[in-house]
Amino acid sequence: MTRRKLIAGNWKMNETVPEAVVLAQEISNLMERDWLEMVDVAVCPPFVDLKPVKTVLEFDRVDIALGAQNVYWEPAGAFTGEISIPMIKEIGCTFCIVGHSERRNLFGETNEDVNRKARALIEAGIAPIVCVGESLSVRDEGAYLDYVTAQVRAAFAGIDGDDARTTVVAYEPVWAIGTGRTATPEQAEEVCAAIRACLADLYDEATAAAMRILYGGSMNEGNAALLLAEADIDGGLIGGAALKAGSFIEIVKAAL
Ligand code: G3H
Repeated sequence: MTRRKLIAGNWKMNETVPEAVVLAQEISNLMERDWLEMVDVAVCPPFVDLKPVKTVLEFDRVDIALGAQNVYWEPAGAFTGEISIPMIKEIGCTFCIVGHSERRNLFGETNEDVNRKARALIEAGIAPIVCVGESLSVRDEGAYLDYVTAQVRAAFAGIDGDDARTTVVAYEPVWAIGTGRTATPEQAEEVCAAIRACLADLYDEATAAAMRILYGGSMNEGNAALLLAEADIDGGLIGGAALKAGSFIEIVKAAL
C-alpha cells in the first residue's frame, strides 16, 4: 500500500496576522506546483491567521491545505473563548489537529475530549490529525507502546473503519517536541508500526494500511529524509522548522 505523504506545519502560538501573511507568501513562493501532485502539504496557523493565510494561498492558487490547531465539538453556543467546527470549515480548513500534547499537558485536554473532537470533525468532513505520544518518564519506564496505543484506542472509540480512514494519526513523543532531541528513525518507526498494528486490531489490516501516521518532534531539514524513509512514517507534523519557509520546503522535498 502506497500512502501519499503529508507534511503539516503546526505554527503553534506564533505569527501575528502580518507575519503569518509573509510566512504563507514565502512558503507559497518556494513551493513547486509539481511537488503538490506527489505530496500533501498543510499549514496550521493560529485561528486569527487562518483567513489571511487562506487568502494568500487562494490568490496564489497553490494547493496547500489549511488546518486548525484545535477546535470545540459543540457547533455554537455559550462557550466563551472557543472556536467551532463550522467556523473553521467556513474558512476552508480541511484538517484540524486534536490532542496535541501541549493541549493535553497545559490545558488539561483528556482522551475523552480528543475523542469528542475527532468524532465531531469527522462528521463535518474535516480530517482530524490525532496526536499521541509518551512523556520521557513513560518512555524511561518502558511501557510507552502500551501508553501510546491506549491513547489511540481512546481517540478512536466509537469511530468506524470508514471514518477512521479519513483521519491522520501523529506520533509525537513529548520528549522530542521543541527539544532538538529527535527520535531516531528506529525509535519513531517502532511506535508508528505499533500504532498501525493497533489500528489493524481496532479495524482491519486494509484500514490500518490506508491510514496515514505522521511523526512529529524536532523534525527538520537535516533529519526528515531518514525519518520519512521508514515504512510506517507517512509524513511529519512540524513545529519549529515550519516557521522558516526554507526549512519547511526542504522537509517537503524530503517527502517527494
Ligand atoms: O506539532 C508539532 C510538534 O509538536 C513538533 O514540534 O517540531 O517544534 O519539535 P517541533
